Amino acid sequence: MSGAPRLIILDTDPGVDDALALLYLSARPDLKLLAITTVFGNADVETTTRNALWLRDRIGLSAPVHRGAEAALNGQRGASPVHVHGQNGLGDIDLSGPSLPTPDAGAAHARIVELVRAHPGAVTLVAIGPLTNLALALRAAPDIAGLVAGVTIMGGAFALGNVTPFAEANIHNDPEAAAMVLAAPWPVTLVPLDATRSCVLSTSDARAAGDFVEAITRGYAAAYAKHEGLDGCPLHDVAALVSLTAPGLFTSKTTPVGVDQGGERHGHTRPIDRGPPVRVHFQADGAGLVDHFLRSIGPQGGQ
Ligand code: BDR
Ligand code: CA
Repeated sequence: MSGAPRLIILDTDPGVDDALALLYLSARPDLKLLAITTVFGNADVETTTRNALWLRDRIGLSAPVHRGAEAALNGQRGASPVHVHGQNGLGDIDLSGPSLPTPDAGAAHARIVELVRAHPGAVTLVAIGPLTNLALALRAAPDIAGLVAGVTIMGGAFALGNVTPFAEANIHNDPEAAAMVLAAPWPVTLVPLDATRSCVLSTSDARAAGDFVEAITRGYAAAYAKHEGLDGCPLHDVAALVSLTAPGLFTSKTTPVGVDQGGERHGHTRPIDRGPPVRVHFQADGAGLVDHFLRSIGPQGGQ
């Protein structure tokens, strides 16, 4: 590890695995968090923004939190996946405590534009929720495509989806935005379900990581046990960040990627013939990634 840390804007819908991604970020000296931007997804944006503010305080981060899109580009928002992330989006852990500040000034997509322009060539956008904020930023300021260091996305399913047999949740929540983001002339890395499904934090690893990780993943792991027969839970969103810090844990191909819209394949991602090249991490060394995550965060304290 050497040189200046990579500047990150984390676009997120916390979300249990989003919380673990923030925990990972806080533990990595090679990543510097410029801002947290929120989006609907695992819950409504009111809730995901409250969760981002709570997590910032709990984890001890100092980055601003900017509230973002409350619905997809077409104005629609599906039901929140409370059976996966709990009623409060964070596994129904106790979020009481000192009152939280309001979000920082500026809409998510507007702050993305300002920060990318303020640090030309240096900012990596890491999107671990629906891609609505990134699409709004691109729409408002197409020049940012030439100014980012990169865009790394947890999203997509090339084989089996998780909200339908074809589609992954982040892309399914706003396929129009995803299509815009994947068709823009900026360097995109996609970390789809095909890779993240193998990155399973077992219940015993979660327990060993400490009370906070154990508590926040308990309901999430139970949902994965029920729906996918897993012992533990996939570190989907953590994997997007690890693709920056330990890219050797992934096997990749580069191809333009399209997004199906409408019909039974709504939200499905697939290789297409024409378009900007996207680096797709089709496979991950799941055990290696989990080990890397646990070593990075170290033992955590109580809830
Ligand atoms: C993605 O959807 C959300 O439920 C998770 O936080 C992750 O970003 C996995 O499909
Ligand atoms: Ca997420």
